[in-house]
Amino acid sequence: MADILTKIDRHIRDLRLASPEELKALFDELRQVFDEELAGALDPDSLQRLRKRWLTGRESIRQRALDHWLKVESPLRPNVGQLWRELLADEGYIAQKLGKPQEQWRVATDEAALARERADLSLPGVARPLGSRHLLRQTFAEIERIFLSLGFAVVEGPEIETPYYNFEALNIPEHHPARDTMDTFYLETPRENSSGPPRLLRTHTSPMQIHTMEKQPAPVRIIVPGKVYRRDNPDATHSYMFHQVEGLAVDTDITFCEFKGTVEYFVREFLGPKIRTRLRPSYFPFTEPSVEVDASCFVCGGSGCRLCKSSGWIELFGAGMVDPAVYGFVNYDAKRLSGYAFGLGVDRLSQLKYGIEDVQLFFQNDVRFLRQFP
Ligand code: PHE
Repeated sequence: MADILTKIDRHIRDLRLASPEELKALFDELRQVFDEELAGALDPDSLQRLRKRWLTGRESIRQRALDHWLKVESPLRPNVGQLWRELLADEGYIAQKLGKPQEQWRVATDEAALARERADLSLPGVARPLGSRHLLRQTFAEIERIFLSLGFAVVEGPEIETPYYNFEALNIPEHHPARDTMDTFYLETPRENSSGPPRLLRTHTSPMQIHTMEKQPAPVRIIVPGKVYRRDNPDATHSYMFHQVEGLAVDTDITFCEFKGTVEYFVREFLGPKIRTRLRPSYFPFTEPSVEVDASCFVCGGSGCRLCKSSGWIELFGAGMVDPAVYGFVNYDAKRLSGYAFGLGVDRLSQLKYGIEDVQLFFQNDVRFLRQFP
């Protein structure tokens, strides 16, 4: 290497030794030296060193050429200039081979990253835990499946209601004691709407009975899954928001017998084929007669235990034949039509079916609880 540089030095200084051809041959030799060094530079660091030595360093060969060869006065100076440009200038052979510094760096880091990130396909995978539907959603789905198979349609309604739909049209006039049992959340009435009716969070899904019958003529067979709200203090069986599935069937020839058969079928499908059903007289302003549906205790089979409080029966939900007074509010012909309605407490049914002692578990979203119901 030193040889070839000295030779070029000498030829340029002592121009008698140099013809244009000789000069070209010497530059070709210099290029060969570079090619060999480049072939030996296999990692980013050596390339960087090569760059410095040939192009960028203070003592680089390019600098030496500028300082010595291009300053000599001689007739061959244009030749030297051209050869220098071809080999050592910014766009010259060597600069092109070595690339721009950023490019060098990018190629080097890409390669390093590729090496580092090479996927080892023999490593075991990371098992990600799968989410699942909330137990209440599973219970909704189960209830819906049963009633869809009986020809009911699923509809949903608003959670914000007026007293008319939540009470009046369901035969619960103002000052009726039934309003007290459903401690109601009232919403602040916006000032610009102060002439309109007060608004409240529905205390049950029954307002959808009215909405549905207002909208469509009989026959009606619907269930209404949804959230309802009451001013209850949270404990193991109460929460200020809970879930119901309303049911309503109205047609020209619906009997109490069909009502009873439907309820019994639902209970057997939901809790198991051995479960017996009992209808106990009760009271709701919008059904007549009204009943509480009880199931034979599925823990003790009726002999008496802690769950059924030794009675052998468990209270499931309220229901009844639609009170003719309700038809009056929706312009249904009470002489021609009859029907039944029920209001399933989803949280309670889910608690009973899966043995959940505290309803608050549904709302805390503790994965240790949720994971038990995949
Ligand atoms: N809406 C009643 C409640 O929330 C339940 C019910 C619905 C009773 C339909 C009879 C018929 O308590």
